[in-house]
Amino acid sequence: MTRTATLTYGDQTIELPVIEGTEGELGVDISQLRAKTGLITLDPGFGNTGACQSGVTFIDGDKGILRYRGLPIEQLAEHSTFVETAWLLINGKLPNRAELDQFSKRLTKYAPLHEGFKNHFEGFPLNAPPMAILSAMINTLSSSSCDGRQAPEDDIDELSAKLMSKVRTIAAYSYRRSLGLPFIYPDPKLRYVANFLHMMFSMPYEQHIASQEVVDALNLILMLHADHEQNCSTSTVRVVGSSKANLYASCAAGVGALWGPLHGGANVAVLEMLEAIHKGGMSAAEALALAKDKQSGFKLMGFGHRVYKNFDPRALILKRAADKVLERLGVRDPLLDVARKLEELALIDPYFVERKLYPNVDFYSGILMRAMGIPTSMFTVIFAIGRMPGWIAHWKEQNQDAASRIARPRQIYTGPTLQSYTPIDQR
Ligand code: ACO
Repeated sequence: MTRTATLTYGDQTIELPVIEGTEGELGVDISQLRAKTGLITLDPGFGNTGACQSGVTFIDGDKGILRYRGLPIEQLAEHSTFVETAWLLINGKLPNRAELDQFSKRLTKYAPLHEGFKNHFEGFPLNAPPMAILSAMINTLSSSSCDGRQAPEDDIDELSAKLMSKVRTIAAYSYRRSLGLPFIYPDPKLRYVANFLHMMFSMPYEQHIASQEVVDALNLILMLHADHEQNCSTSTVRVVGSSKANLYASCAAGVGALWGPLHGGANVAVLEMLEAIHKGGMSAAEALALAKDKQSGFKLMGFGHRVYKNFDPRALILKRAADKVLERLGVRDPLLDVARKLEELALIDPYFVERKLYPNVDFYSGILMRAMGIPTSMFTVIFAIGRMPGWIAHWKEQNQDAASRIARPRQIYTGPTLQSYTPIDQR
């Protein structure tokens, strides 16, 4: 039975189709609303707007559920790797051995960058933020690749492997550039995560072989960040891709969106906040009081989420991992104590409870990365490496959707009404 919602406006009544998702989510299809009534909908920040139908990731924010292609994040965190999870997101099912082998081989093959790209890196000032370099260099990849829009299916798989592989090399090189260190070539014998750490930390005279604990922890971080349905950066990738822009250009735009402190940049902001609280001798209670004071301009970074209104399952997994990894690595970090205290107090504070503000994925990821020796400037870059398969999966899904249209929202105009031009000497 087709369900409809009835909208009455003035003397008009119209029936709007109701679309049901596979997990029972309901949405009113308003695509004909303007044509039939002259009305548009207004939803700043798109908090209540479904922009597409998607089969990639399911979130139930009230129950704290996150599933990639139907698989609970907790199961993937326990059994999978980042590379396998990436294939799952991009292709819709878990890979068999042959598929995973082929993907791994492609990732190895595409890891090196064109030698000429070194000149691009050299053009960036020392201390350039790695996110700026990452975005620019992903865009630069378009200059040496075909436009994925016209590419047959297998070429999209090639493009996806190329981007996933090269983003890690670009990320490591952006870090090396910021320190003026020589670039380290990828090592074909190393797997995805270990290879990234090798390119970040090896020296020409000494190879850096990361410990299994660090490799496992980074695998986990990347996996937990791999997709999150229509978040700010993924929506950006889809908006850019909707104009038929190529995969690289679309994902480069995603990096820009991720950079902001209200999105992926929050992992840097959290660490800076914890450091400021610790060094400034501020108590957790004082920090919470400041966060509740709207005049202060201070927010409890790493808290709150547009979708999760109960708990963020990724934060739970990362909190447990941080405890374990820090212990195994023998790292004693006072910032972890500050974070724990803030969380403890916020979870019983009426301001945070009433607004359903809980720790999000960024609250513990920074502490974990710091313990692994990853510099703060690279936190959001690592988030971007992790989110890449999600962006690719969404770009591919949209690319293959015959019903996809260019994204073009409307507005309610609030500017001046008709004016007449005044010559300059009469103004
Ligand atoms: N500290 C203090 N107050 C907060 C916080 C916070 N971290 N987050 C939300 N609030 C308050 C708001 O001021 C608002 O209060 P009000 O109702 O009295 O006006 C209420 O809680 C609702 O918040 P909104 O801003 O409407 O929530 P929204 O869904 O628009 O924003 C966001 C979500 C951006 C994540 C917000 O909670 C925030 O800024 N958090 C800190 C930054 C952060 O951690 N970002 C990472 C998000 S996860 C990710 O992108 C990977």
